[in-house]
Amino acid sequence: MTDYKSLMIEAQEARKKSYSPYSHFCVGAALLTKSGKVYTGCNIENAAYTPTNCAERTAIFKAVSEGEREFEAIAIVGGRANEKGGFCAPCGVCRQVICEFCEKDFKIVLGDEEQLKVYTLSELLPFSFSKNDL
Ligand code: THU
Repeated sequence: MTDYKSLMIEAQEARKKSYSPYSHFCVGAALLTKSGKVYTGCNIENAAYTPTNCAERTAIFKAVSEGEREFEAIAIVGGRANEKGGFCAPCGVCRQVICEFCEKDFKIVLGDEEQLKVYTLSELLPFSFSKNDL
């Protein structure tokens, strides 16, 4: 059984590195590969706003750029800088990026280490457009 609690704790650690001087909303993510490696990410904001990268995409791009292609699960945690992170659903862009690399049963773990909610990609992105449609 996948240890989602440990994955969430890694996401919480990654959240501490969030660069979010504009929104003050800090997000962390921990992406588990099928081979058992974990890649973490945080949100990275920008003065021009639109170049901002979400925590989930930071983790995915780090992993893909290292040659990883097969993923099991991602834990995501978010919240205002002065608060403990908690439930933070991935934005639509991140759902689409996850969809590029992950199967329909890929697990998306939300909440915090005490209360985890586990969703599948197909639950969070039904009727998706993917490479199978091209
Ligand atoms: N953010 C993420 O990192 N992931 C999400 O799925 C939701 C939003 C970040 C982007 C921005 O830096 C801040 O949260 C507020 O939107």
